[in-house]
Amino acid sequence: MPANPQALEQDDSPYCCCSAATFNEILEKQRANPLPFMELLMVHAGCGSGCGSCIEELEVFLRDHDAYVED
Ligand code: FES
Repeated sequence: MPANPQALEQDDSPYCCCSAATFNEILEKQRANPLPFMELLMVHAGCGSGCGSCIEELEVFLRDHDAYVED
């Protein structure tokens, strides 16, 4: 059972194929363990070794949710 099933059910955030995770899932990891953006891309997301196509969108998403940490 996921920790927060309701949040997952309503998760309509963009999906990052390279991370195999939605932006909301990445956001949850970032909230639990905040990292500077470049490190987040390697640790919380697969963007660092992925295609990189959603990085700009992810940055905006994190800023909008007050979860962006400057490098
Ligand atoms: S889809 Fe997110 S980095 Fe490739």
